[in-house]
Amino acid sequence: MSTIKVLFGTESGNAELVADDIADTFNDAGVKAETVAMEDFDVADLPGAGTIVVITSTYGEGELPATTAPFQQALVEGRPDLSDLRFAAFGLGDSSYETYNNAITILAATLDELGARQVGETGRHDAVSGEPFTDVAVTWAENIAEAL
Ligand SMILES: Cc1cc2nc3c(=O)[nH]c(=O)nc-3n(C[C@H](O)[C@H](O)[C@H](O)COP(=O)(O)O)c2cc1C
Repeated sequence: MSTIKVLFGTESGNAELVADDIADTFNDAGVKAETVAMEDFDVADLPGAGTIVVITSTYGEGELPATTAPFQQALVEGRPDLSDLRFAAFGLGDSSYETYNNAITILAATLDELGARQVGETGRHDAVSGEPFTDVAVTWAENIAEAL
């Protein structure tokens, strides 16, 4: 398996820390992974990417962070055939908002619509829970690494 790209979009940095935790967990489990900012990843490379992880927080009133939105927009506009792609998804949000974790829901639905196959359940961190996001992300990533 080629190195898994752990793609993150963030507004204030939490999703980048979560991406590091997930990549470290995968590498510890023997699954080679590296983090890449979504804004630095060319969507044209997605069809041949094998397996990816997408991570994003939600901002505003259910909006995508500015570093996630161009990636999502490129998918919607370019509509690449992603039938050879597998992806896992993790979101960061706050359940005091009605639009809890809306951004990862939208992004995962778009990847699915374009033919990509999701591995495992979408992971979600809720800021209201008080749980450290590292704990939630590492537990989720251990399960995903087993399913890959
Ligand atoms: C101004 C603001 C708006 C937010 N809006 C939402 C929202 O609509 N839905 C949600 O689930 N979380 C929302 N959040 C919570 C963030 O997604 C959460 O704090 C997350 O950990 C931030 O991750 P980041 O640092 O990677 O951007 C909001 C946070 C702030 C500060």
